[in-house]
Amino acid sequence: MTFPLYVFDAYGTLFDVHSAVARHRALVGAEADRLSELWRTKQLEYTWTRSLMGAHRDFAALTEEALDFAAARCGGVSPNAREKLLSAYQTLDAFPDVAPTLQALKDRGARLVILSNGTPAMLESAVRSARLGDLLDESLSVESVGAFKTDPRVYELVERKYGLKPDKVSFQSSNRWDVAGAARFGFRAVWINRSSAPDEYHEFRPAAVLNGLAALAAM
Ligand code: LAC
Repeated sequence: MTFPLYVFDAYGTLFDVHSAVARHRALVGAEADRLSELWRTKQLEYTWTRSLMGAHRDFAALTEEALDFAAARCGGVSPNAREKLLSAYQTLDAFPDVAPTLQALKDRGARLVILSNGTPAMLESAVRSARLGDLLDESLSVESVGAFKTDPRVYELVERKYGLKPDKVSFQSSNRWDVAGAARFGFRAVWINRSSAPDEYHEFRPAAVLNGLAALAAM
């Protein structure tokens, strides 16, 4: 079954957030993996706390703040490493299953869109460096809402832009909390569970759980 519109989360779903540290592992040192995990965890925490406070700051700034906290926690990184990591975050690797899956869905006539916490500039850079520009119709950023996922106004952006009822939209995310927000909103929410994480948010179930994006084209 092909949906008219497929909406993808960006970070963790299309783009590997750990590829920034992986590229500069030697520069970061022995704590590289811990730093990368903490960087991501803090980045997301800041989105939720700021949305609750009604004190929006963009995802690029929160990504910097989170890196500084993670680095301090893990024994520090040099100014050179900090700059390299932030620059790498603008050009993250796409997972290998992304381009073939997007191509297969596009060949069936579906429209393909990103809906992300990222700023328009971050998303443009990530899409360009991963050479996905010809496959994606556009990137919708939370910046036009001024709040982060899982604020329902973020998911509403899709309905406002495309005039489709939520049940006509297939939404994919590797972030279970994002899947919960999308399912509650009414999308067909597909959890791309790349890391075999245990399920959570049981009240807001995914319509399907896949171990990667490739299986989406086979659905
Ligand atoms: C995004 C974050 C949640 O791309 O990964 O919106």
